[in-house]
Amino acid sequence: MNIGYVQTDPEFGSKEKNYRQIETMLRGIRADLIVLPELFATGYCFTSKREAEGLAEGLDGETTAFLESMARGTGAVVVGGFAERDGKRIYNASAMVCPSGLLGCYRKIHLFNKEKIWFSPGDQPPQVVEYNGGKLGMMICFDWIFPETARTLALLGADVVAHPANLVMPYCQKAMVTRCLENRVFAVTANRVGQESRGEDSFGFTGQSQITAFDGKVLSSAPKARKHSAVVGVDIRKARNKRINPYNDLFVDRREQLYGC
Ligand code: ACM
Repeated sequence: MNIGYVQTDPEFGSKEKNYRQIETMLRGIRADLIVLPELFATGYCFTSKREAEGLAEGLDGETTAFLESMARGTGAVVVGGFAERDGKRIYNASAMVCPSGLLGCYRKIHLFNKEKIWFSPGDQPPQVVEYNGGKLGMMICFDWIFPETARTLALLGADVVAHPANLVMPYCQKAMVTRCLENRVFAVTANRVGQESRGEDSFGFTGQSQITAFDGKVLSSAPKARKHSAVVGVDIRKARNKRINPYNDLFVDRREQLYGC
């Protein structure tokens, strides 16, 4: 399976410009899975709930239509983050789209910082979607610090975790090595670069998008401050064997009855 990411430098509020940036970066790329950053079309640093609402869309909106056109162009399942409107609520969500349409949507469960003002927290458990023989799960950015998220996806059978991100702390890339090692799954963390200073806030995004293997090896690491894309070939069958030696299987050896929580 060929899995990859696009690391972008979006401009806040300029959806059209941000779509064109990705379209240009994906030209000529063929893959099975491409992951785009969190909130890739809107930017991240909202100054009010009203502003976030103004940039939010339904699951049938222009951003999922854009993802569908990128899926058709690359032949890939494309995952990207967007501000999802559903009735009165808005969610920090990601859509998973294949060339013939929507496969799934995930609403970020663990909101970071002022996201708690703009967004409602995800109200549904993470899910795994099977497509062309691969089992794909989604989590978004700060979900990385809650090992339960990746563990849940792995227990549901995910081979690859698609992880759109807008990372502002320097720890996630290293943590993803552990998330992948402890679950024996692959992960594609698609981050962004650039600085957004709006209202009272200023965020510098850390780049270094990463493809991490089931054994913790970093298969691709993007630059810190430049746009970048990469695709690597992986054998997803490796993610289906949780045995690390003749005596230990990471899932069989769990002692759920003793965890007590
Ligand atoms: C984050 O969750 N975007 C830091």
